[in-house]
Amino acid sequence: EPLQWSVFAEIDSTNAYLMQQAPVSSDSLQICVAEYQTAGRGRRGRQWQSPFASNIYLSLKRQFRCGLEGLGGLSLAVGVACAEALQPFSQREIGLKWPNDLRIGEQKLGGVLIELSGEAGGPCQVVIGVGVNVRMRSAPTIDQPWIALHQCSPRLPGRNTLVRALVEQIARMSAQFDREGFSPFRQRYLQRDVYLDQRIDISSFQQTISGIHHGVDETGSLLLSTVNGVERIQVGDVSLRGG
Ligand code: BTN
Repeated sequence: EPLQWSVFAEIDSTNAYLMQQAPVSSDSLQICVAEYQTAGRGRRGRQWQSPFASNIYLSLKRQFRCGLEGLGGLSLAVGVACAEALQPFSQREIGLKWPNDLRIGEQKLGGVLIELSGEAGGPCQVVIGVGVNVRMRSAPTIDQPWIALHQCSPRLPGRNTLVRALVEQIARMSAQFDREGFSPFRQRYLQRDVYLDQRIDISSFQQTISGIHHGVDETGSLLLSTVNGVERIQVGDVSLRGG
């Protein structure tokens, strides 16, 4: 796949930048990285703290032929690709918290934010954003426990090596996902799921549902067994908490 790179010292958000660019043609990949983001975006409208020259702020733009309806599970597959790309550089196991937080133990190593544009039925343009804590030289205030990759690796290579590993895995995963959907990634996802078979709380807006996390279905929806039976929770504006 032809790769087109945009590298910035400073930018508002690598995701926002690629969303503003013209659509990419099929089988090409547009990539944006920055040393520093002034308005890094997280999931659920949150901010993503992005201090200078410490971490990875990476976004990739690609066309998916499968259309919006086929994209269920993409964020889980991206999580799998990132965890597998970074695992060789970490002495501790990299886990996933549904849908796509990268975790080491109880702490957050990174996250994925997917943004898309397109119409039902047609191909769509997808921006995959990945933030990974690598060194976190200046520690900002972050509202949840976090960890950086260098804490888990005695000899960490430079960020270029890590970015290359991430881009290669995400490119390969995306091509396969576009052809075959989420199912080839389901088992690999479950192997890393940190709350599998545990009691969790899922909350969206004011509502919270508790239950046992019984894995995910073929579209990436979380299966939660509750007092009312099994509920399927789609990747969307919800958040998960260990019970
Ligand atoms: C999360 O909330 O866990 C997702 C965080 C995603 C952050 C990355 S950093 C690169 C890309 N650009 C952004 O503005 N956000 C994503």
